[in-house]
Amino acid sequence: MAELVDGHGRRVTYVRISVTDRCNLRCVYCMAEDQKFRPLPHLMTREEIARSARLLRSFGIEKIRLTGGEPTTRPDLPGIVSDLSAIGFPGGLALSTNGVLFPRMARELLAAGLTRVNISLDSAEAEHFRKMARRDHFQPVRDAIDLALALPFEAVKLNAVVIRSFNDDQVRPLAAMTYDKNLHVRFIEFMPFGDNEWNESDWVGWEEIRGRLEADGYVLSSVQKSAVAGPADEFRVVSGRGEHRGTIGFITPVSDRFCDSCNRMRLTQDGFLKGCLFGHSDVDLLRPMRLGATDEELSTLIRHAAEVKEQRHPMFVGMDRARLPLHGRNMSEVGG
Ligand code: 5AD
Ligand code: SF4
Repeated sequence: MAELVDGHGRRVTYVRISVTDRCNLRCVYCMAEDQKFRPLPHLMTREEIARSARLLRSFGIEKIRLTGGEPTTRPDLPGIVSDLSAIGFPGGLALSTNGVLFPRMARELLAAGLTRVNISLDSAEAEHFRKMARRDHFQPVRDAIDLALALPFEAVKLNAVVIRSFNDDQVRPLAAMTYDKNLHVRFIEFMPFGDNEWNESDWVGWEEIRGRLEADGYVLSSVQKSAVAGPADEFRVVSGRGEHRGTIGFITPVSDRFCDSCNRMRLTQDGFLKGCLFGHSDVDLLRPMRLGATDEELSTLIRHAAEVKEQRHPMFVGMDRARLPLHGRNMSEVGG
């Protein structure tokens, strides 16, 4: 099997496929209340997703994550998952979801071959949730977490974006959820993206979060990562209550760039293969596909997309947001 190696010598093994830009929440860090969505015919069909995935697999891609927008807003999501599991990805098939519609599809997704679930939850309280997500769907998301934990998925993770004076008081209650549940809670540094409002003063770095937990008596010890792991640094936890069942992780795009070990690319819902969240060198696979490109022609495009993958993203502590080369897409259009 061929390998996909980028222009900086890194092997690509993990692709995140965004299946839609639509969402039933409006998280403040991700999209505007009046976000415009692409016309449906611009989104990849189930067949186009499966064809892209088959070609990616032929390049040795081991793991796929389905993202959005919100993937569960696509009624054919279980079908997409079963296509991917028929192709066979040894590193598993993961889903990032906000959880709202997840309970309706969870069993079907599991039967179709989904192996892992990441649920976004920025707050352990309904009131806070509404402030972050601009919608009142806290309880369905809590139900989704309990259901995901009750089903035999390999891992259930929670993703929380931390914004100062907005939800940073939720770090403690979210971290506490790992005590009696086999949940992996990951705190994500808030990134400037698209047209979101970001100021460095809103950003809370991972060391500050870790420091707060340690001040509460948490002792964190590092967990070894697997070869196809994402960028989170994960820790086992012992607190005053004893050993926690779950783990705590940090995703640190701003304070500690993990680009050197980047193993991933993204496929947007409208069929662009993207090297980097902040990249501008996206390669359109969908248009050629719709114009009748052969597998060989598409493979050449995939190889090219890897070659032009950026070396690193442009964020760092102390950056001038106004000078970041942000492009016209919001996170929901890229797939997080
Ligand atoms: N900063 C950090 N993470 C973000 N996400 C979306 N927007 C941002 C941002 N500005 C992540 C969140 C969300 C997922 C869809 O993408 O983890 O759960
Ligand atoms: Fe939807 Fe996820 Fe964006 Fe929130 S972060 S608006 S749940 S796509």
